[in-house]
Amino acid sequence: AEDGYRLWLRYDKVENAQQLAAYKQSVTQVLFSGNSPTISAARKELFQGLSGLLQLQPTETKTVSQNGALLIGTIATTPILSELNLKSSLEKIGTEGFFIKSVKINQKNATIITANTDTGVLYGVFHFLKLIQTGQSLSNLSIENSPKLTHRILNHWDNLDRTVERGYAGFSLWEWHKLPDYLDPRYTDYARANASVGINGTVLTNVNANALILTPAFLEKVKALAGIFRPYGIKVYLTTRFSAPVEIGGLKTADPLDAEVQMWWKKKAEEIYTYIPDFGGFLVKANSEGQPGPQNYGRNHADGANMLADAVASKGGIVMWRAFVYDDKVPDDRAKQAYNEFTPLNGKFRKNVFVQVKNGAIDFQPREPFHPLFGAMPQTPLMMEFQLTQEYLGFATHLAYLAPLFKECLDSDTYAKGKGATVAKVIDGSLHKYSMSGMAGVANIGNDRNWTGHPFGQANWYSYGRLAWNPALSAEEIAEEWIQMTFTNDSKALNSIKEIIMGSREAVVNYMTPLGLAHLMGYSHHYGPGPWVSNKKRDDWTATYYHKADSAGIGFNRTSTGSKALSQYFPPVKAQLENLQTCPEKYLLWFHHLPWTHRMKSEKTLWEDLVGHYYLGVEQVRNMQKTWDSLKGSIDEYRFAQVKSLLSIQEKEAVLWRNSCVLYFQQFSKMPIPAGYEKPA
Ligand code: GCU
Repeated sequence: AEDGYRLWLRYDKVENAQQLAAYKQSVTQVLFSGNSPTISAARKELFQGLSGLLQLQPTETKTVSQNGALLIGTIATTPILSELNLKSSLEKIGTEGFFIKSVKINQKNATIITANTDTGVLYGVFHFLKLIQTGQSLSNLSIENSPKLTHRILNHWDNLDRTVERGYAGFSLWEWHKLPDYLDPRYTDYARANASVGINGTVLTNVNANALILTPAFLEKVKALAGIFRPYGIKVYLTTRFSAPVEIGGLKTADPLDAEVQMWWKKKAEEIYTYIPDFGGFLVKANSEGQPGPQNYGRNHADGANMLADAVASKGGIVMWRAFVYDDKVPDDRAKQAYNEFTPLNGKFRKNVFVQVKNGAIDFQPREPFHPLFGAMPQTPLMMEFQLTQEYLGFATHLAYLAPLFKECLDSDTYAKGKGATVAKVIDGSLHKYSMSGMAGVANIGNDRNWTGHPFGQANWYSYGRLAWNPALSAEEIAEEWIQMTFTNDSKALNSIKEIIMGSREAVVNYMTPLGLAHLMGYSHHYGPGPWVSNKKRDDWTATYYHKADSAGIGFNRTSTGSKALSQYFPPVKAQLENLQTCPEKYLLWFHHLPWTHRMKSEKTLWEDLVGHYYLGVEQVRNMQKTWDSLKGSIDEYRFAQVKSLLSIQEKEAVLWRNSCVLYFQQFSKMPIPAGYEKPA
């Protein structure tokens, strides 16, 4: 059965006979040059792809002797290429880009896939296969492609006991107890999938870190994984527990300004590099949700980050220091805390430090306005942190394509340097001339057969990688290629799946948190609805903190008459959002507390409009079900049935969400459910 294990690298035979014949003419002989592990990986991938897609084992030759030759290798290892005058193209594509071009060699039609590095060649091979997978022509090619960001990294929140924080697709892929001796072939498939979308780094461990990962017994295991990932251009990173010098080092303090502590980290880094010479560096969650950090010693985030940065700098390592900080003891709007703590540190970090910022100021909600830190730290490279695991969007049970969420943030204009200073330009480094640029995706991967639990979760992994490579791609074009590679090239089925995918995130917003509401999920697990008071210990962990519903109205007032969080944005953004006429309604209750009778653009009252969104969300899920049902027979049965059942759970739970929220808020609005809607129960 098609169980989804092959992800978007299925390489099933091209169905259209005419197309198949044309492809075969374009690949009659292969000249592969170079013999590094990366080139071997590229070669293996190419042959696996061609034997599946074209049912072909092309002959390998040393010279071009017939039409349809395919030349693959770096410019340095492929002498014929030096005759083709590719210098200016190769300069443009940098160290990871590639170049695919139709050329004439010895009067024969040939295609070259080349790059400055072996990794570039590997990326080029994946791209070439994708052309076939997505039914594109192989004639007259002239493709120059290179990543816009330097660091494209998955963050696994995987614990050493193989449980996964906020993981909904089984246990961790890393079989710590069998490593380093048993190397599951799945590790290679994981690396292939990542390389196919250009992901070039992986943080193996949870941000809520365990210091033991830095001990020799575990470093041996990390080394084994790094060895598998290396040929695929993927570096390994680890999370560090800030108190490690005390916990595993026997020191009395972890104060970052203490010379002994600094020395301990230097030695520890040196030790790590003896195992993994190309170790990427550290990801750190400090002074956040109970994790230890420099503030325990009266120091600031820069002191902590710089100490670690100094320890890895000489080996080319980096530190990704997270800005996800908030504290219920700070008597201020949680949404303001990261900005307040980090902007004073702008420019105080070492060159090899990223500050890693979640897309929004609260926490991976179905919809959040962009984080005000983007654009506000011109001298410190900011790294985007997106979450692929759907912690607040129905886990691996609900279908929610996240690329539209990612794009909404990336395309937002910060106005940090006047109009056009989008979040994408902040993080790709072009706005403030950052020396490095990056995007992190909190992985949704586990050891389920299909990797992500929900078959459509794969699209979130895929689209994250594509956007980290090029934030300018559209959610729709990414969806299209993913569907073609993962499900079908049949245009009718493709369009139906695309319709489902493209509307899915908005459906979730509608039945969970419409109009800028947030964090209405049940306490701690974050799955089903819980708009009521559920945690008496901490205000900021209870939904009422976020929606502030009362008899006067609903919403969090973050304007100048409220928490003033809006003043953290640049003036044009602040002005737009502060003004009820110009604040987009999708963000309305994020920034404003409004009476239930407030008139919306629809002419309806806020109450009616809110209820309308909850009902619409359910309707949208029902439409997704109908569209999915229409696909019976045009996709494989296994995945058809699996998605069908998941959608029926989603429908049931969307109703539960709608009814819980509408009935809960009705206690305050004391207004009726508008006529024509089924009765919530
Ligand atoms: C969320 C999530 C935690 C996680 C945290 C983080 O709050 O619920 O499980 O540890 O984010 O990003 O650090």
